[in-house]
Amino acid sequence: MPIKHRNAGEKSPLLRDDWAYASPVSLDDFSTQDWILLDSQRGPYGAAERTKQALEMLTAQASAPTFGYQINNYEHCLQAATLALQDGADDEDIVVALFHDLGFVTNNENHGEFAAAFLKSYISDRNVWMLERHMYFQAVHCATHPAVDPDVRERWRGHPHFEYAANWVARYDVPSINPDFENAPLDTFIPMVERLFATLRRDIPLPD
Ligand SMILES: [Fe+2]
Ligand SMILES: [Fe+2]
Repeated sequence: MPIKHRNAGEKSPLLRDDWAYASPVSLDDFSTQDWILLDSQRGPYGAAERTKQALEMLTAQASAPTFGYQINNYEHCLQAATLALQDGADDEDIVVALFHDLGFVTNNENHGEFAAAFLKSYISDRNVWMLERHMYFQAVHCATHPAVDPDVRERWRGHPHFEYAANWVARYDVPSINPDFENAPLDTFIPMVERLFATLRRDIPLPD
């Protein structure tokens, strides 16, 4: 969708015609009534927009070139999710696969933490743990890389989620760079993302 430039004096459209704007232009000037109005629209807005905007973060990469892999990061994410789907994985594990490399290009060094933070409200501890470390669990599959320690994952050997992470990476991440593989269309995954995002698993605590 082309990006429309907003000129000064124009408001962004409301999601629904029967909604209202909070009129102050600084948070300092909001009345309690303004907050009540916003909070009454915030929930339905999130429910309507969350999946769409999350997927748009992914599809923003859909036509990107690659730096050498035969498929781009968007196709890799779609392929990992397709492998999870074909494996009979549940909604959570499929959506985790779909978004596991969302920040691979923009935040490569900490893209595991990026994905974990992105999904943390909706997923189990084992997937948070796996996402944060999945690139280190990949290293054993990249033993010919001149600068990668293939045994870096060994520091977590014995952890309750170690085997899950090792299997997840081996099954869904390592092989999903294949241009000959028929990826499921993105639409396949929309209901799964919607179901997962409709179930808030945890509140996020204040930082230390
Ligand atoms: Fe990754
Ligand atoms: Fe990946």
